[in-house]
Amino acid sequence: MDVYGVVGHPITHSQSPVIHQFFSEQIQDPIYYGKIFSELDSFKATVNQFFERGGKGLNITVPFKLEAFELAQKRTARAEIAKAANVLWLKDGILWCDNTDGIGFVRDLERLLHQQNIKPATAKVLILGAGGAAQGVIDPLMNLGINDISIANRTFVKAQELAKQFQGLQPIAMEDLEHQSSQFDLILNATATGLGDSSPIGLDLLKKITHPKTIAYDMVYGKETKFLKDAESLDLLAVDGLGMLVEQAADAFITWRSPSQALDIRSALDAVRASYKT
Ligand code: ATR
Repeated sequence: MDVYGVVGHPITHSQSPVIHQFFSEQIQDPIYYGKIFSELDSFKATVNQFFERGGKGLNITVPFKLEAFELAQKRTARAEIAKAANVLWLKDGILWCDNTDGIGFVRDLERLLHQQNIKPATAKVLILGAGGAAQGVIDPLMNLGINDISIANRTFVKAQELAKQFQGLQPIAMEDLEHQSSQFDLILNATATGLGDSSPIGLDLLKKITHPKTIAYDMVYGKETKFLKDAESLDLLAVDGLGMLVEQAADAFITWRSPSQALDIRSALDAVRASYKT
């Protein structure tokens, strides 16, 4: 059986094996997919050892995506743009890398916008946070045809800096959020608050800047964040990052296995949600 895996630090909670095993069973193409822990200073050795032993492909997660990009001998165009990689594989003895995070986010978001009947061209979007996670979604949002994107961050100057890099991105101070002329159709929480138990904005403010069809999207997964709990209490569509995780995995799986039939994304998402509950 061909062997695949996901490398990270930490790695215990990775859902990638569940997703890839699901796809492999769905199309009856057996693979083995495991979790691989790497020490922070031995990522290169871990990767080399995996491929020397005949491994076929790897997913790369935090904090090694930059190193994976640097280690690869050939890069896809989208990896070049992201300057980070979450997929590695060997082809004719050459180590390739790809970045499927952006497309995973785009596919997940397209599905949600369609579900809520929101058109990208007229959608009003707010990004909360101005770190790496926020930066990674700006290009995909713009490529989706979304033009009206605001960014707010606890440290305003960081939002302003990002706005300088992306033409059309509007920095907005947290305290000015409540004076918006219209509500947002999509609010993306790209802050690290999900890891603690706070939300970047209070419930009252969230209520003020949303309408019944607003999508509240948290980039983290595996935990119901305060931001999502608040959104649910307002009856908004509240989604975590599992959808984009499944979508990015699907793209990697397709690169590795070239399946002749479409992968069942919705069922994979159900499977990974069910595995959380056990
Ligand atoms: P990542 O690469 O995952 O985006 P990061 O670069 O450390 O991580 O960025 C974390 C983001 O979460 C930042 O926008 C940070 O705000 P600051 O720039 O003001 O630090 C935001 N963040 C973290 N904790 C927060 C909190 N308690 N409230 C609001 N924003 C928070």
